[in-house]
Amino acid sequence: MKRIGVLTSGGDAPGMNAAVRAVTRAALSKGYEVVGIQRGYNGLLNGETINLGVRDVSNIIQRGGTTLYTARCLEFKEWDYVLKAKARCDELNLVGIVVIGGDGSFRGAADLSKAGVPCIGLPGTIDNDISCTEYTIGYDTAMNTAMEMIDKLRDTAMSHDRCSVVEVMGRNAGWIALNVGLAVGAIGVITPEVPYKLDDIIAKMENSKKTMKQHFIVVVSEGIGNSEGIAKEIKEKTGIESRATILGHVQRGGNPTLRDRVVASEMGYYAVNLLDKGIGNRVVAMQDHKIVDFDIKEALAMQKPFDENLYKIANEISF
Ligand code: ADP
Ligand code: F6P
Repeated sequence: MKRIGVLTSGGDAPGMNAAVRAVTRAALSKGYEVVGIQRGYNGLLNGETINLGVRDVSNIIQRGGTTLYTARCLEFKEWDYVLKAKARCDELNLVGIVVIGGDGSFRGAADLSKAGVPCIGLPGTIDNDISCTEYTIGYDTAMNTAMEMIDKLRDTAMSHDRCSVVEVMGRNAGWIALNVGLAVGAIGVITPEVPYKLDDIIAKMENSKKTMKQHFIVVVSEGIGNSEGIAKEIKEKTGIESRATILGHVQRGGNPTLRDRVVASEMGYYAVNLLDKGIGNRVVAMQDHKIVDFDIKEALAMQKPFDENLYKIANEISF
C-alpha cells in the first residue's frame, strides 16, 4: 500500500491541524494510507507514528496547536540521522512526507529529499518570516490575538491616561508588529527591519498631547525587545505613566482564523498533489495570493522585502 507521511516541526502555529487534515483527506481520497509522525523529526527517528484514517482528523480543523505534537530536533542537522530517518521511511513504506514548519524544518526536508524521501514543506509559523511566501499558516490568527489583547490594554491605558508599550512575537521579523501596530493605531511601531529613534516617537507623543491625546500605544517587536526599558524612558522623558506588557505565547494558541484554515487546507491539498506526481524537494508558498511551489534550496535563498509602505502608513496616520 502506498503511504504518505505528515509531521509538524518547530514552533506550533494555529492552522497546523487544518493542514494535517487537508493532507490526510487529500491523500486518502487519492488512495494512499496516511501516517502521522509525532513530535517532528524526533518521531521519525524514534518510530512515534500513528495511522491517520478519515475520522482521525475529524474535529481538528478548528483547533489551535498541533495534535501531532511538535519538537525541535537538533540531531536532524547531522547526515547520519537523516540516513536513519530514510531507513525508517523505507520501513514505513512512505512515498513522501509533508513537513509543516519553518525554515529549519525545510532544511531537514531538503536533506531527507536528498537521501531519497521526497518531502514537501508547508510554511507553518506565526512569524511570517519565510522568504519565499507572502503568507505563513498561523500568522493571521496570531495577529488577531495580539490585536484583541492590545484592544484590552487600550481600555486600561485610556482609563489611566497611560502609555502601553506592548511587545509582540516575531523572533527577528517585524511582520506581526507592523500589522498589529497599524491595526491598533499605535503611535509608534518598532521593528528590527527599520531603524528607529525612540526620541522621534517621544516627540510625536508630545505633539499629540497638545491635541488632547492622553493615552498611547507603542508596539515593539520581539527582535527589538527591551519593552520595560522603552516604557521607563517614555515615562522619564514625557512624564506619561507607562506600562510594559510582553504578550508572549498566548499569540501562538487559539482557534485558527478563517484565513489560516483556508490557506492551510489549500496548501495541504497542493502538497499531496505534488507527492502524487512523484515530485519532492519543494516548498509550497503563496505569491500574489496564489499557491505555488519552489525548490527548497532556492526557497531558502530568497529574500522578502519588508513592507516599507505599510510602515510609512502606520506612522503617518497615527498622531
Ligand atoms: P522554529 O523556527 O520554530 O525553530 P524551524 O522549522 O525553523 O522552527 O526549525 C525546527 C526544526 O527544523 C529543528 O529543530 C530541526 O529539527 C530542523 N532543522 C533546523 N535546522 C536544520 C538544518 N540545518 N538541517 C536539518 N534540520 C534542521
Ligand atoms: O517562531 C515562532 C515563535 O513563537 C517566535 O515568535 C518566538 O521567537 C519563538 O517561536 C519562541 O519559541 P519557543 O518559546 O517555542 O522556544
